[in-house]
Amino acid sequence: MSVADRPRFPEGFWWGAATSAFQVEGAAAEGGRSPSIWDAFVRRPGAVADGATAETACDHYHRYAEDVALMAELGLSAYRFSTAWTRVQPGGSGPANPEGLDFYERLTDALLERGIAPVLTLFHWDLPQELQERGGWLERDTAYRFAEYAGLVADRLADRVDMWITLNEPFVHMIYGYAWGIHAPGLPLVYGALPAAHHQLLAHGLAVAELRARGVRSVAITNNCSPAWPASREPADLAAADAYDRLHNRLFTDPVLLGEYPDLSAFDSIELPVQDGDLKVISAPLDGLGLNYYRPTLVAAPSPGAGLPFDLPEMTGHPITAFGWPIVPDGLRELLELFHHRYGGALPPLYVTENGASFPDVVADDGTVPDPSRIDFLDGHVRAVAAAIDAGVDVRGYFAWSLLDNFEWAEGYTQRFGLVHVDFETQRRTPKDSFHWYRDLIAAQRGA
Ligand code: NOJ
Repeated sequence: MSVADRPRFPEGFWWGAATSAFQVEGAAAEGGRSPSIWDAFVRRPGAVADGATAETACDHYHRYAEDVALMAELGLSAYRFSTAWTRVQPGGSGPANPEGLDFYERLTDALLERGIAPVLTLFHWDLPQELQERGGWLERDTAYRFAEYAGLVADRLADRVDMWITLNEPFVHMIYGYAWGIHAPGLPLVYGALPAAHHQLLAHGLAVAELRARGVRSVAITNNCSPAWPASREPADLAAADAYDRLHNRLFTDPVLLGEYPDLSAFDSIELPVQDGDLKVISAPLDGLGLNYYRPTLVAAPSPGAGLPFDLPEMTGHPITAFGWPIVPDGLRELLELFHHRYGGALPPLYVTENGASFPDVVADDGTVPDPSRIDFLDGHVRAVAAAIDAGVDVRGYFAWSLLDNFEWAEGYTQRFGLVHVDFETQRRTPKDSFHWYRDLIAAQRGA
């Protein structure tokens, strides 16, 4: 992005980067941490590429100070991380583990010392294994357990965290974890996964009340969202895209913002275990809505005999990331505008809480990590956010995924998303060219 044609962002816009506990912390057996569903899942033969585990990951638990120094060098205004329930409340019930909270307090204070706003996600998929053994998100009780855990974190950090995000991508957690079984807890239940939607949403609402009771500054929820592109203008493809949009974008947003579930009658057998009063709890007012955007989704009418009201054909004609995901920056503008128009006055300020791409980055002989494709990716998407703001959408922040190369779930360490390259043998951190590009962008935007 040349200086002359850089878009301008509103004063106070958050320039951030994001990570999550399980993906970066390591120290799996330290500080009183109990096993999570991901510790169990990685042991399943064939579940994770190369049989990788996250026992060490980026060793961020021990190296957080070095990582915060990198954030300061980037000039971040905000950093989004998650707390591991398994550190804060091992086993998912009972009293808080002070050692676990001490770690997040050290991290939070290190951020504040550098002028970086802490943005804390309470659940980024690492449910305590003990709770899974009692049914995990299929059980209503997990929602109450989550609210209690949220209260324990807020008891310690309510005065210092700028934004609280209850859940990360409950849609992906439900589909990958409970419908298809390709993420922890590895349950291929298809429609049987749906209680995990309602119970996560209930957990969100109950947690909002606990957080408010402790006077936190602001509360949000983050979802993965994706514009649903019909494969053609044929009515069957349009109907399929509409059904997909309801599942991917509306199932976890309508209840939160509108207090009702979208009409899901296009699906065969969706049953949600809703009890009286739940939707009121779930739709407690929020201060922000987080959107994680990676790609749009192409949707076609289902093939005969398909169990779902859509097919998801491969999208062609776009450059792709190492994951094979199409790179479509304008899809982010489209998504932000879609939410703006769809929810109108019910929409709180939006935050792009994740956006990024994986590429097979290597450290060159001269010690640099050239990643021109990531720079193009970020440049295009930052411009898309600027275009949405120009069109009147209230977007308050952008968080690159991720600060560090890290444990990419079922892909293990094979997909590198970081602005900083991590050598997983030595734990050496090497800023990539995109790190320097982002640093310059932030400096120009923050008027440094
Ligand atoms: C979204 C998830 O929140 C994050 O954990 C993951 O690494 C990225 N997508 C990339 O797949």
